[in-house]
Amino acid sequence: MTTKTFTIAIDGPAAAGKGTLSRRIAEQYGFHHLDTGLTYRATAKALLEAGLPLDDEAVAEKIAREVELGGLDRDMLSQHEIGEAASKIAVMPAVRRALVEAQRRFSEKAPGTVLDGRDIGTVVCPDAPVKLYVTASPEVRARRRYDEIVSRGATADLDAIFEDVKRRDERDMGRADSPLKPAVDAHLLDTSEMSIEAAFQAAQSIIDAVLSRNA
Ligand code: DC
Repeated sequence: MTTKTFTIAIDGPAAAGKGTLSRRIAEQYGFHHLDTGLTYRATAKALLEAGLPLDDEAVAEKIAREVELGGLDRDMLSQHEIGEAASKIAVMPAVRRALVEAQRRFSEKAPGTVLDGRDIGTVVCPDAPVKLYVTASPEVRARRRYDEIVSRGATADLDAIFEDVKRRDERDMGRADSPLKPAVDAHLLDTSEMSIEAAFQAAQSIIDAVLSRNA
């Protein structure tokens, strides 16, 4: 019998559908799920609320070390301002080190874990037996984010969202520390022309193949 935790690493750019897909996968396999973007967002929110600067790495690291993984809630952390601040502090190596340590501890929970983010397959869990890189064109991702906001009854500007998606991509892919990129052994899942259900089916067959090989 093996007691080793089974980890599924899911990476990709903003609004590619990783969140929905990760939650579905975690539910299907009875695994714990961590949306690692929320750890960056929670750090950013704590800095903003305390009136602390977003460009002081030592201060941001201290706050990052205080983030509790248990109570992270996307609804409370979804504001645009928090996302922008999160992507600024996510370039800081000391902040990343602190949050990666906490994410690695989470990844060891039995019986298995699903972590989604930007650097899970490359940095946080490089030994994960399943790595997925979920992507879609910037146009499709902007449209999905727009539809999601409008479906909540709010108003949105598609062009502004598109520009925001592209800016976020540049920052995530262009940073020196842990830039967003597929791990060499990641399965690429382009969901531009795929429903979330089709993406889930594709992910499930990849995971099941690895699970049966490991059984
Ligand atoms: O996925 P998100 O929008 O909630 O992520 C917020 C910011 O955190 C985003 O700019 C990318 C960054 N991030 C990261 O650098 N590494 C991760 N593993 C997850 C998110």
